[in-house]
Amino acid sequence: MNGDLHSGGAVDHAAVANAHSEHADAPEFAREMWKTRLGFVLAAVGSAVGLGNMWRFPYITAEYGGAAFVVLYIIMTLAVGIPVMLAEFTIGRGTRKSSISALRLAGGKGWVPLGFLFVLTGFLILSYYSVIAGWVTRYALAGIFGGFPEDTGAYFGLIASGVPAMGFHLFVMAVTIAIVMGGVEKGIERASVIMIPALFLIVLGLAIWASTLSGSGAGYAFYLTPKFSELLSGETLAAAASQAFFSLSLGMGAMLTFSSYLSREESLPREAGVIAFSDFSVAFLAGLVVFPVIFALGLQGAVGESTLGALFIAIPGAFNEMGGIGRVVGTFFFIALFIGAITSAISLLEVVVSAMIDEWNMPRKKAAVIAGSLIALLGLWPASNLNALGALDAVTNYIFLPVGGLAMAILVGWLYKNPLEEVSRSVSERFQPLLKGWLWTLRVVVPILLVVVLYSALGEAVDAVKALFGG
Ligand code: TRP
Repeated sequence: MNGDLHSGGAVDHAAVANAHSEHADAPEFAREMWKTRLGFVLAAVGSAVGLGNMWRFPYITAEYGGAAFVVLYIIMTLAVGIPVMLAEFTIGRGTRKSSISALRLAGGKGWVPLGFLFVLTGFLILSYYSVIAGWVTRYALAGIFGGFPEDTGAYFGLIASGVPAMGFHLFVMAVTIAIVMGGVEKGIERASVIMIPALFLIVLGLAIWASTLSGSGAGYAFYLTPKFSELLSGETLAAAASQAFFSLSLGMGAMLTFSSYLSREESLPREAGVIAFSDFSVAFLAGLVVFPVIFALGLQGAVGESTLGALFIAIPGAFNEMGGIGRVVGTFFFIALFIGAITSAISLLEVVVSAMIDEWNMPRKKAAVIAGSLIALLGLWPASNLNALGALDAVTNYIFLPVGGLAMAILVGWLYKNPLEEVSRSVSERFQPLLKGWLWTLRVVVPILLVVVLYSALGEAVDAVKALFGG
């Protein structure tokens, strides 16, 4: 009797304590969280590292001034990239909500349209990004199962657009949907923790191998010979700033959304630094692979023809000519690209899905299937029309992302109540003064640079849309 009473009392006590702690942690419902700090960092690096690193960075570095451009790029990462990333983290972790809900909480009703712009941007970018990821998949499979084709120019012409492109695009979307359905910890975090270290190892291994090629010296020279005269033009400045922006997945709420699942204990500036450094490392190493490979076989002519030429024509062409070793190495190259593209695609879909969860209380699986299917459907358009792909790319990257970043800088820099409170958590005394510098960079430097980017990119966006309508 006595024992019964006692145990009954103990159970009640535990139940009360339990209800209490649940209540304290989650007033409405338990929000998903990253299991580990490393999981968050790798997922964010996964979002950042993608086609922008392994194809666009090497290409524009070679075009705009080599090592001098690399220095400018690092400056832009510090002056625009990290500050805007911290602004997104401030709102994301500060409100613990995804973009639309977070902006309403942080800035009021007037900021809700920006949240919708973020969701729309995720929707549009993913629709064509997964088409390109589909090409990458196609090459990776070619490497594994049959070897790279002889005539990569003709091959690329066949697979880039139409039914084959649609099929691989749908495959990439299916993989992306499946991972996002798994949730923050069991889907996104788990996938990133496995895939991102593999990507790093592959890219590092490839760079070491490429240094042994006979063309490596000429390749490095093409990539990195500093041309300081290029640096002073507004165009170069804008190219560096917008590349840093695109590469770090900024301006559309991806970093905001990921940080909303992060524990209050982590230091946001430290995470931003680690993510930016990792992103830069992969981009820089990719150039150390791409150019020696192309120059080893004297295929530099193909690089100049088009920006797509380097990645999808010259490189597989070079791997084909190298025979057996080329097939092995080339397959790894495209597997690394595939990892980069899939982990970026995940974060793009997550922006849309998490907004549907937070705004409309939709279950995750349902949101992932609905959003993913609609994006897959829209993607059939860029998969069948390369001008549509170009126009979607130009409008989102040249207009939506810089506008999104500019708006974030203004919100966090000038309007948000106390941004320094969120950003200074777990930052040691010594570094606190730097945070004031961050705030002023966000207030003044970032808006100026993003306006320059917008101004210089507007023409390209207009051209791409004109090309779509046959103008
Ligand atoms: N950062 C990605 C890359 O370098 C591309 C990208 C741009 C992106 N904006 C994004 C990815 C937003 C996810 C979310 O390829």
